[in-house]
Amino acid sequence: MKKIITVIGARPQFIKAAVVSKALLANKNLKEIIIHTGQHYDHNMSKIFFDDLKLPKPAYDLKIGSKDHGAQTGLMLQKIEEVLLKEKPDLVLVYGDTNSTLAGSLAAVKLHIPVAHVEAGLRCFDKTVPEEVNRVITDHNSALLFCPTTNALDNLKKEGLTKNVYLTGDVMYDSILLMIEIAKKQSSIMKNLKLNPKKYCLATIHRAENTDNLERLKEIVEALNESKKEIILPLHPRTKKYLAEYKIKTAKNIKILEPLSYLDLLILEKNASHVITDSGGMQKEAYFLKTPCLTLRDVTEWVETVSTGANTIVGADKQKILAALKKPDSTIKELPNHYGNGKAAQKIIEILKRF
Ligand code: UD1
Repeated sequence: MKKIITVIGARPQFIKAAVVSKALLANKNLKEIIIHTGQHYDHNMSKIFFDDLKLPKPAYDLKIGSKDHGAQTGLMLQKIEEVLLKEKPDLVLVYGDTNSTLAGSLAAVKLHIPVAHVEAGLRCFDKTVPEEVNRVITDHNSALLFCPTTNALDNLKKEGLTKNVYLTGDVMYDSILLMIEIAKKQSSIMKNLKLNPKKYCLATIHRAENTDNLERLKEIVEALNESKKEIILPLHPRTKKYLAEYKIKTAKNIKILEPLSYLDLLILEKNASHVITDSGGMQKEAYFLKTPCLTLRDVTEWVETVSTGANTIVGADKQKILAALKKPDSTIKELPNHYGNGKAAQKIIEILKRF
């Protein structure tokens, strides 16, 4: 039997890992051991996802918590190494682009344990974005690279990475196909918030490039205030902290909530007139759910969502945000399937079995 150690730690990774873990559990020849780095630790940033997604309880909870990048990644590296030395896995599986991804891949490659990276090959070509640094290094640490799109595959090729590179489709698409049906049955968020479909926007802001920059955060919030639209804004702890620190006020049209569960978030994304976000995952979720998206960044890794017209890059530019929100609501009808067929997890398992 092959022993696989999965390293996860932040909200988007719980979502991505859940579908693969489920497929791993169904496979007798592969045994998965989960390490949770503790990068996200609040109940509604972590535990609630494990519960909703039925993700197995981590065998190791490293409880690293929030720190500066160096300290956070360094501590993770040290503690993950201890577990790897004890468990001696055949492979380490990492997801996405967070500090937990980087630490997991680095700890493993230094011990000559092969690394498999799910969501390999994404690039925004800006090294001031912490996630970009994490992705590039993780891809180069990896022995197996699972790309969600052909564009990701091309990016790796340009960096000379062609061996053991696979186009699997996107595990987030697998996840949404499964979870949206559960969400429809279980979520009462629309009723609880007294919302009408397509009469509100859903906004999220959490990236360092927006939150840690007074000008950008102010401009984004001003745009939301001036839009006069009903805006639901579940606040990431980082954003909450900076809004208070910069003394930026939100107007009455903005309803601030605590971070939401995956199920409630999916329902709000599906029923919103627009999703306004700097999250990578939400750009795709909006796309899968056919809700127009405004991306609060100057670039995106998910270029397919933009080329199909479903996603508009608005940066932190008030006029661009307001103009995009004024465009008549065009419900997106059909979208090309750039992200696979909903069986990415299964493809990944087949490759892991053969490796
Ligand atoms: C991290 C990832 C980002 C991902 C995001 C999803 C990195 C570099 N960034 O960013 O790619 O899109 O997760 O949310 O790895 N905090 C809490 N409670 C928590 C978690 C965090 O209060 O449960 C606070 C911390 O005190 C800190 C802030 O949130 O001030 C940032 O947390 P951190 O995990 O460092 O980065 P994220 O911004 O969440």
